[in-house]
Amino acid sequence: MCGIVAATARREVSEILLEGLRRLEYRGYDSAGMALIDNEHHLQMHKQQGKVAVLEQSQSMQPILGCVGIAHTRWATHGEPSAANAHPHISSQRVALVHNGIIENHVQLRKELKAEGFEFTSATDTEVVVHLLGQQLNAGHSLLHAMQATVKRLEGAYALAAIDIKHPEEVVAAREGSPLVVGVGIGENFLASDQMALRQVTDRFIYLEEGDVVQATPTHLSIFARNGEPVTRAQTMISAAVEVADRGEFEHFMLKEIYEQPSALSATLGAVADGPLIDEQFGAEAAALFDQVETVQIVACGTSFHAGLVARYWLEDIAGIPCDVEVASEFRYRKRKQHANTLLVTVSQSGETADTLAALRNATEPQFLGSLVISNVDNSSLVRESDLVFLTRAGAEIGVASTKAFTTQLVAFLLLTVALGRRHGLDEKIEQQLLDELRELPRWVDQVLQLDRDIQRMSEAFIQKHHALFLGRGVHYPIAMEGALKLKEISYIHAEAYPAGELKHGPLALVDADMPVVAVAPNDDLLEKLKSNLEEVRSRGGELYVFADNVDGFQDEQQVHVLPMPHCPERLKPVLYTVALQLLSYHVALQKGTDVDKPRNLAKSVTVE
Ligand code: F6R
Repeated sequence: MCGIVAATARREVSEILLEGLRRLEYRGYDSAGMALIDNEHHLQMHKQQGKVAVLEQSQSMQPILGCVGIAHTRWATHGEPSAANAHPHISSQRVALVHNGIIENHVQLRKELKAEGFEFTSATDTEVVVHLLGQQLNAGHSLLHAMQATVKRLEGAYALAAIDIKHPEEVVAAREGSPLVVGVGIGENFLASDQMALRQVTDRFIYLEEGDVVQATPTHLSIFARNGEPVTRAQTMISAAVEVADRGEFEHFMLKEIYEQPSALSATLGAVADGPLIDEQFGAEAAALFDQVETVQIVACGTSFHAGLVARYWLEDIAGIPCDVEVASEFRYRKRKQHANTLLVTVSQSGETADTLAALRNATEPQFLGSLVISNVDNSSLVRESDLVFLTRAGAEIGVASTKAFTTQLVAFLLLTVALGRRHGLDEKIEQQLLDELRELPRWVDQVLQLDRDIQRMSEAFIQKHHALFLGRGVHYPIAMEGALKLKEISYIHAEAYPAGELKHGPLALVDADMPVVAVAPNDDLLEKLKSNLEEVRSRGGELYVFADNVDGFQDEQQVHVLPMPHCPERLKPVLYTVALQLLSYHVALQKGTDVDKPRNLAKSVTVE
């Protein structure tokens, strides 16, 4: 992952770089650094372990200034988080480099460069790249040529940006497998891993293609394709409505994003809020493609994978279409037997997740009819490379733990279920009913948010615990999985989800008074079965925390703590129960004092394998 920002201007850019890093911190936050070329053409650098705020402190205590610079916020892959491993890395006392991605052949390159006398000061894979640049520059080549020659030696994924004191106006950059965007200014140019980092300075962007190398000065911008030929890439103007990453009245972005769900869900419903569902909501070619779909293959990671698991129930049950769901990191390497006429659906909040992107790139015709991505980020790699696109309108999600992106993905899947179901005999009345129910979803979610206080009270029981089990059945099993993922990632409590019927096949052995068991227990066809499973827990001394909309039979008594949920239409329940579990995790983490928005070891956008 990691975030890169670079600038070449006629004005001082250190504050632009720092602001860019603050906006990119979602990509990694274990160390940060920046390097500038000052007026005397010397390299100036700060590197710190920790978040961007620590780097800011160094800058305020000992400012470094310059009109050309690069900056980086890191999520460690090779080498522990430390100042020495933080980027930029330097070679030959002249060139500095930042990198996002993984260099797979770094071991051989390191050996070769060491033999030539290059000294390594970090444990990173990145350092080989800067020494390759140094090698080229020392041989008298230009910075551009050095970068073009260097990338030819690299295997793996990277976005790179470099500056050199002998080319004091220039930034060169390259992209292969990791995102990089050019921000075009007036008399200044910028680069970043995500346009969001540059919205403060420009609204004009160029999305680089794989293999591109860029040479930027304040007044010139040249892009070269993989074969070394100059190319022109389209410039996109992004609307002036800058998305402000501001917590407002909320203590954390995660809480703000949980509370934004009613409006995010409304926005995602879009035209369906007061009209019919039209295929074009999925793209101009959707109708023709949907007509041929016989099966669906969903591929995603993490929370987005859980959305896919929920969707399988809907696609099979409501639309009558067979559906497989798989995590992208497995799917991409598996030798598969694919059904004919399969639509590949990728799901990704960021649209940049490396494994999901690789799965899309591997899944070509004739295996697949075509691809649809459900993503929250327009112009992301997955959006650009898919045949059809459904954009969730959740707005920027800053908290590392995904909340509103997940529930809006569920809405996208319900709409897809209707669109495909129509072609497979979905009754018009049921379609109407489903769309009517969806229109009411924001209101139902609002009711769950009003349970915040009660959920907070329930959360107190978890603070001293080290483990938790989440149980669900049917479509609510993936909701239990999502609840467990949320709890573990932000509170560091070990949490696992099981289909409740599996309990007696092993996990029951874990149950005692120290193992809270959270049950997702909506009033549905499986409720009675679930109740029996929960009895198995109770009779073994387990402590139950039950989220239920039919509280009959769930007495709030010793060992059983019930959180009454609103009685909403059955198909909306997965969304409502998710919101309740998000609040539970949030309050546990808050009381444990963890870093809710930036949990340890994680990053928001996973652009490495
Ligand atoms: C968990 C979480 C992650 C992401 C996963 C995929 O709260 O956010 O599990 O869901 O890294 O990311 P996207 O959806 O951007 O592909």
